[in-house]
Amino acid sequence: MRLKYKPWGKPYIEEHREITFDANKLNDPRFQEYLDHQGVYIEVGAGRGDFIIGLAKKFPRRQFLAIEKNLSAASVATKKIVESGLRNIRLVDADIYDVVPFIPDETISGIFLNFSDPWPKKRHAKRRLTFDNIVLEYQRILVRGGKIFQKTDNLDLFNYSLENFRNNRWKIDFLSFDYPELSADFDSISEYEKKFRLAGNKINRLVAKKGLRTYGPEHKTIEPLANADAD
Ligand SMILES: C[S@@+](CC[C@H](N)C(=O)[O-])C[C@H]1O[C@@H](n2cnc3c(N)ncnc32)[C@H](O)[C@@H]1O
Repeated sequence: MRLKYKPWGKPYIEEHREITFDANKLNDPRFQEYLDHQGVYIEVGAGRGDFIIGLAKKFPRRQFLAIEKNLSAASVATKKIVESGLRNIRLVDADIYDVVPFIPDETISGIFLNFSDPWPKKRHAKRRLTFDNIVLEYQRILVRGGKIFQKTDNLDLFNYSLENFRNNRWKIDFLSFDYPELSADFDSISEYEKKFRLAGNKINRLVAKKGLRTYGPEHKTIEPLANADAD
């Protein structure tokens, strides 16, 4: 997502700590207390927030957390959340790789991945939001029976993700290679979905239930991508 730098973005996010969490203070009780809510749902790569705001409006008794690493997108999302008056969404403007170590085991009810960057080159596979390492972390933070909800128009990313979930013994509860708009109740439309539907692209959607592969002693918490050899 290419977005113009917004000089007001960072101060705005900092002024709205009732909505946002400081990415450098995720050890803080305030973040941990939010995760103590029964059944928080997170969106990884929430962009400008349309999807998660739509879902939080539809389900006011559930709690949502948007994670977005692009500061401009995160600022716009924060502004929309503030203006919506919703009290059941929070946001962290950070990379999921830097946030996930602060999320305790088995606390998250569901994870949304909407139109994640496909990173088509094999050497960039580790940046995909369904790369094996991060899938193991999703498995760690999801409650028993917790689910991942993924939508994308990119068939290669979709097939890669599906294979990865299956290899990790996740149960595929729902699978569509031509998903009709909003045909599931627990769904909302993202900015990219709107754009791709207008362009006539088919939308793929899956719901995968947490698998059986363990995250026991052999599983080390992931390194932030910045420390991994990126290219
Ligand atoms: C193609 S956009 C899709 C935005 C939105 N989900 C939608 O469907 O309209 C992908 C977004 O994911 C964010 N993103 C990519 N990798 C991320 C990561 N590792 N952690 C947090 N956000 C990430 C990008 O900054 C970008 O805003």
